[in-house]
Amino acid sequence: MTEATKAGLEGIVAGKTSISTVGKEGLDLTYRGYSIHDLAKKATFEEVIFLLLHGELPTLTQLNEFIDQLISLRSLPPELQTVLKLIPKDTNPMDVLRTGCSMLGTLEPEKSSNLQLTIAKRLLAIMPSMLLFWYQYHMGKGSIETSSESEKTIAAHILHLLYGHPASPSQIRALDVALILHAEHEFNASTFTCRVITSTLSDFYSAITGGICALRGPLHGGADEAAMEQISQFQSAEEAEAGIKSMLTKKEKIMGFGHRVYKYGDPRSDIIKEWAKKLSDEPSKKNLFSIAERIEEVMFREKHLYPNLDFYSALTYHFLGIPTFLFTPLFVISRTSGWCAHIFEQRANNRLIRPIAEYVGPLPKPFIPIEERN
Ligand code: SDX
Repeated sequence: MTEATKAGLEGIVAGKTSISTVGKEGLDLTYRGYSIHDLAKKATFEEVIFLLLHGELPTLTQLNEFIDQLISLRSLPPELQTVLKLIPKDTNPMDVLRTGCSMLGTLEPEKSSNLQLTIAKRLLAIMPSMLLFWYQYHMGKGSIETSSESEKTIAAHILHLLYGHPASPSQIRALDVALILHAEHEFNASTFTCRVITSTLSDFYSAITGGICALRGPLHGGADEAAMEQISQFQSAEEAEAGIKSMLTKKEKIMGFGHRVYKYGDPRSDIIKEWAKKLSDEPSKKNLFSIAERIEEVMFREKHLYPNLDFYSALTYHFLGIPTFLFTPLFVISRTSGWCAHIFEQRANNRLIRPIAEYVGPLPKPFIPIEERN
């Protein structure tokens, strides 16, 4: 009998990584050894992508070359534009990215002339184009131009495509920090999905598509959208207090709270909460922020649970005027950088990932012919 494993593989060391540390005794959340606090304060998302893919922060020359490469990879092939137009308006945008990624894989398949690093950069550059092309097309804006080089960074490009005009520096930096915070998180469900698919020697696009599918769930990346729905149902902090307490008595989950690894707070939450506070610059936003803080207080008082990255990210995205159903796709755009790093790492020292199960089924029994079954 194997040692009984806690449900959901909780606490199980399922492999080695040199990419990030999450919840390690006495260690901050780090990407390739750099603290998330330093990265969120002093780096850009493009620097973080380079760090995750190459293992070190870029020099200024390397960064500028990298940014130019990403900008040159934003364009949507006509066949992909056709597919994006065919995807219905009421589709979950996570399915748009899942489909777009798969379609790109049929147009630009992985082969010796199309190496993994090229595909990684292509996916990171094109995901915003796919998402906003589909969104704006179905918002009646026709086929928007997504390969514009006017915006140097992914954050600025996303907001320009969404707003239809350049965003402000503080709006761009708020999204840039959110993308840094969402980029990488060790063996979370979607990243581990990518690694399992990669371990079978399947292709790059299949692994990323699998990651998107796993992230879609409300217990994982989908929590940011669900958290926004929950926050926005309340008009005041007092109403939120009563509402959350009632939900807890009905054993309902409050989205954006709790974490499988972080039992004493998600280090990313305080960082993104500061940005939500900075962006709450008018009465209605200040009210929403006070509602969120009250929910945080109630959750700690009643359940000793802390907000995870999704809770105040939801508010930050909302204050940036991003439609709620685009929140989790932004998580994909960012986490694709971490997924790519893990695919590289799995490939570099691969062994098929195949755990075993603890059998709890029936004991052996004789076969009964169908004519004797009743
Ligand atoms: C992300 O893994 C990662 O690193 C993920 C992520 C990343 O960057 O990749 O950090 C991103 O996915 C963050 C998590 C986003 N999900 C949510 O916010 C959904 C709501 N959270 C919960 O579903 C839950 O906290 C999980 C799924 C995140 C973690 O759940 P666990 O570790 O399986 O814990 P559990 O469900 O067994 O809960 C333990 C107890 C239970 O109470 P009892 O039944 O023992 O009385 O805590 C309670 C739970 O009911 N609880 C909650 C709760 N989370 C846990 N109660 C109410 N609301 C919650 N959010």
